[in-house]
Amino acid sequence: MMKYKLSQADFQRILAFKRDIHMHPELSLKEFRTTEKIREFLESIPSCQILPFPAETGLVARIEGNANGPEVMLRADIDALPQTEQYESPWKSQTPGLMHACGHDFHTAALLGAALILDRAKEQGELAGCVDLVFQPAEEITAGARMLIDKGLFEMIHPDFCLGLHNWPSLPGGTIACHEGALMAAKRNFEIRIYGEGGHGSMPHLNIDPIVCAAAVVQSLQTVVSRNMNPLDAVVLSINMINGGSATNLVVDQVVMRGTIRSLSEQALDHAIERADAITEKTAQAYECRCQILWDEKIPAVYNSPEMTSQARKFAGMTGYEVIDAVPSLASEDYAMYQSYAPSFFYWVGSRAKEESQIEELHRPHFHTDDTALAGAAQVLAISAIGVSKI
Ligand code: NI
Repeated sequence: MMKYKLSQADFQRILAFKRDIHMHPELSLKEFRTTEKIREFLESIPSCQILPFPAETGLVARIEGNANGPEVMLRADIDALPQTEQYESPWKSQTPGLMHACGHDFHTAALLGAALILDRAKEQGELAGCVDLVFQPAEEITAGARMLIDKGLFEMIHPDFCLGLHNWPSLPGGTIACHEGALMAAKRNFEIRIYGEGGHGSMPHLNIDPIVCAAAVVQSLQTVVSRNMNPLDAVVLSINMINGGSATNLVVDQVVMRGTIRSLSEQALDHAIERADAITEKTAQAYECRCQILWDEKIPAVYNSPEMTSQARKFAGMTGYEVIDAVPSLASEDYAMYQSYAPSFFYWVGSRAKEESQIEELHRPHFHTDDTALAGAAQVLAISAIGVSKI
């Protein structure tokens, strides 16, 4: 299988591609230039056919194999984040306030590299079944996978297997992590609205102050993790936005807060949600306020089954990279939405340059990737697609 290697010329092509989109990052659902660049690249690959899919950004392409066999979906996300890059390099983001801080440019380039390898495999008569290449927009706002599914992705393609990856900066370049079980957290984001009665700031007896109530809700919600959860279940509850008030002499009538609950255990997550609902409701009552909790759709945990993990370890080993295990993360990934449609596996590809001791985590302004690891990322996707076709 080592023959399924990215050539030096192909590596340079995807590296140039990655650096180009790194310099021109685009926000979720605004990935218009990125999509055009992906389209141009795919159009240069002889066996690659772009499928007609009604999404404004992102696209789906297919490489048909030479014989009957399973259909495999490979997915990459393509969007960037609203933050300013501080890492200096010749290909630094040219747009202040926008940055590929999660390495989705790395994933996009890796999937294009896999397409080049698969194209050659097909030319040599070694690709059975077909491979669907899904370039998904809007992962950062956990909307892209849902949107593709709602627009009919799985009426158009019918994968027998799904595969994806994330670069992982706490792991060194040259490694690929294959973890069995829950790898990334199930999550549910929420919005809490606390309603009081506004009025003059000097007359508390005539008003109902939702800010004091909101403060109590924030404090009380901290007990969900500390007092209601099994300490052996990793759970995080964070309120990350709080808005209310406009002047020092006004009691406001509404406070809006947004936050997230996550866990590697979906059961623990459901229990935490129940407790958060009850605590918010009762605390609001105690402060004579009304409240509303709006829950976003649940994103499942990224989960690797034992069967898929043992296959994945074999495929990862064929890249020549070191295959390792990894400690799961409470970051989430909307790749998990695809798991209910087909057996699935999700790799982490080490992306920290070996000589760097400092880890610049995902979503940090100095985040950057070891781009030599792109080759392994492309290879593991291509080899897995060819490999699962032969299972
Ligand atoms: Ni990401």
